Amino acid sequence: MMFSEFLEFIQSGQDGQSSTQAQPSAPPSAIIGAALPRVDGPLKTTGSATYASDYNFPRMVYAVPVCATIASGKIRSIDTAAAEKMPGVLLILHHGNVAPLFRNASGGRNSESRPPLEDETVYYWGQYVALAVAETFQQAQAAAAAIRVKYDADKFNVATALDDSMPAIGATGGPRVLSKRGDTDSAFASAPVQVDATYVTPAETHNPMEMHATVAVWDGKTFTLYESSQGVVNHRNVMAQVLGVPKENVEIVSRFIGSGFGGKLFPWPHSALAAVAARQLNRPVKLTLSRKMMFSNVGHRPRTQQRIRLGATAEGKLVSIQQDYRNHTSLIDDIRENCGEATPFLYSVANLQVTSALVKRNVGTPTPMRGPGAVPGLFALESAMDELAIKLKKDPVELRLAHDTLIDEEKNKPFSSRHLKECLQVGATKFGWSRRTPEIGSMHKGDLILGWGVAVASWGAGRGVSEATVNLRSDGTARVSSGTQDPGTGTYTIVAQIVSDKTGIPTDRIQVVLGDSSLVPGPTSGGSTATATVIPAVADAANSAIKVVLASATRAKGSPFLDKDPASLAMTAGRVHAKGQAPESGVPFQDVLRMANLASANGDGKSAGLGSDTKARDYSTHSFGAQFVEVEWDPGIAKLRVSRVVSVIDGGRILNKTTATNQIAGAVVMGIGMGLLEQTTYDPRNGHPINDNFADYLVPTSADSPQIDVTFLDIPDPMMGEYGARGIGEIGLAGVAPAITAAVYHATGVRVRELPVRVEDLLTSRVLA
Ligand code: MOS
Repeated sequence: MMFSEFLEFIQSGQDGQSSTQAQPSAPPSAIIGAALPRVDGPLKTTGSATYASDYNFPRMVYAVPVCATIASGKIRSIDTAAAEKMPGVLLILHHGNVAPLFRNASGGRNSESRPPLEDETVYYWGQYVALAVAETFQQAQAAAAAIRVKYDADKFNVATALDDSMPAIGATGGPRVLSKRGDTDSAFASAPVQVDATYVTPAETHNPMEMHATVAVWDGKTFTLYESSQGVVNHRNVMAQVLGVPKENVEIVSRFIGSGFGGKLFPWPHSALAAVAARQLNRPVKLTLSRKMMFSNVGHRPRTQQRIRLGATAEGKLVSIQQDYRNHTSLIDDIRENCGEATPFLYSVANLQVTSALVKRNVGTPTPMRGPGAVPGLFALESAMDELAIKLKKDPVELRLAHDTLIDEEKNKPFSSRHLKECLQVGATKFGWSRRTPEIGSMHKGDLILGWGVAVASWGAGRGVSEATVNLRSDGTARVSSGTQDPGTGTYTIVAQIVSDKTGIPTDRIQVVLGDSSLVPGPTSGGSTATATVIPAVADAANSAIKVVLASATRAKGSPFLDKDPASLAMTAGRVHAKGQAPESGVPFQDVLRMANLASANGDGKSAGLGSDTKARDYSTHSFGAQFVEVEWDPGIAKLRVSRVVSVIDGGRILNKTTATNQIAGAVVMGIGMGLLEQTTYDPRNGHPINDNFADYLVPTSADSPQIDVTFLDIPDPMMGEYGARGIGEIGLAGVAPAITAAVYHATGVRVRELPVRVEDLLTSRVLA
């Protein structure tokens, strides 16, 4: 399943069932919203958490890919003779000898698919063209280096301008109208105040701390793949198709993940290559990507070029919003970066149009990266809003407040819970916005010029289908499991909190088991939907297990509740007691289980998709936020630093203050990367992503991190079930970059419309200290 399909799946809730989720009822116990440290923290901080490449097995061998050194063309020949004679070398795979992959039932290839090492064609620099497998990693590296590949290189295109007039490959699949209401052409033409500007965001590469890796084990019938995956169930389903085996014969294990940012949502070719080598050699195979390979073979956020036209009356009323955007995609996939994700509903406006076009380039296939579409889209829209506020001589917070709406004007549905206004108001107060003087370069701090900027954030809120299992055990502990995974966000912890909330069992006695496709199916950790998706299933499973305990209490010999009606009993603080009585009057649940001769009480639970929820269908569900940024500009030495960020997030109920704050603070730091540092540069001479290392691809460090104030409105979303929680994994990045460039303009008078902001851009500043 690709990301667009995944999002449609979440939105439509295609589980074939109809349901109505419970309204938020009694306020949840103190454990919900608590600042509880991660339950998996000790394993991580002591180095005992096992990540994909930490797995080792007897007789395990190592695989190293060979990457193409042209961006377009054909492999003329592959000479493996020297490599094959090298010590420890066991296998060299290439398009000439790899077993057929991704065949349909009749043996033909599924046209939707593109298996690795499929043929001699090279579509981008770094594409895998061979794989060397040897007894040791060093032997495999040496063998990979000794494989001689000759190419017939073709013309290629990695041009950064995404215009129709581009030579060679040009635009495909567009422009396409994605949203339309009213008549933008005439509304814009007759608007007395206009903004018409083009904004550019570069290709950005996911750089999670943990790189991709696969350890593949084949036992003659079943594959076990140790992966770094944001979706173990989908990974299993895809690999079963690629490898041509039933789903039951593939197990994906991903217990701990050193983050993913979307780069680990879907399987990449190295996973199949490791599995194929394991099957062929009948030995476990470890394949780890280098940081360099991370830049060409496992996705990136595509470059975007967005023209925004805003029309307004002289009094400052928006009459028209137009967004015409393009993004680059690869030769082998049409990936649309959905830059109009938030545009159609963010502001009240009568005339609106969003169009999109794809432009083919010789680059690896793009993939979702934190807040796909919305994040680059909001850079453009919110930058244009700042420019409009300046033209109108209006305060940028006021301009946004004036266009707030509680109706999604695209869908003509009310928002389930939209508190953007409060985000802006709370943020303005916390930041001290009323002290802002709007003139360029007018705010000082010693020798520094201060710039203050604001932008809003938005990201969709969805809920998919999930299952979960809860076992309440006679030793007083609980086990909860689901086939989802924790990318580092805190999923382990919030799952434990839900079980604790339901049962009163302390979280240190709750074992959470995630990250294995053999568990009952759980959601992909994507689109900020995993929390909203898995917790109703966990709560449902806990309720079912409690029911078993209560029923047992009425049947077990020696139970003080023998022959009572189970409906007259409750379980609180881990104790079974009569409803209306204090928990202390009852008995611990484990005593009930022992009296009933039960090792555990087991409950299964399910979550239904939002789209199948008859009530939720009438609402538009999104999260919102406001980002306030201060920059310090030192004109004497041309130094720019983000010094302060206030981030206010309306993400529904917050289940864990610590993990949630971490998500937003981390996203703000990532936003500083987007605003000031990150960009993947494809060498125009050969298509090589030339800055494919941490010396040349810049990401923010601690020294670049400002003072960050994260505030949650913490208002439960009534459409999100009992707990009212939406997702918060992505929204923290939205709005940060345009707030930075707005602040940069305020400090320097330079409007940067192409990210990242470079010091060179600011040298034209006329502002003096
Ligand atoms: Mo997120 S880009 O859906 O991992």
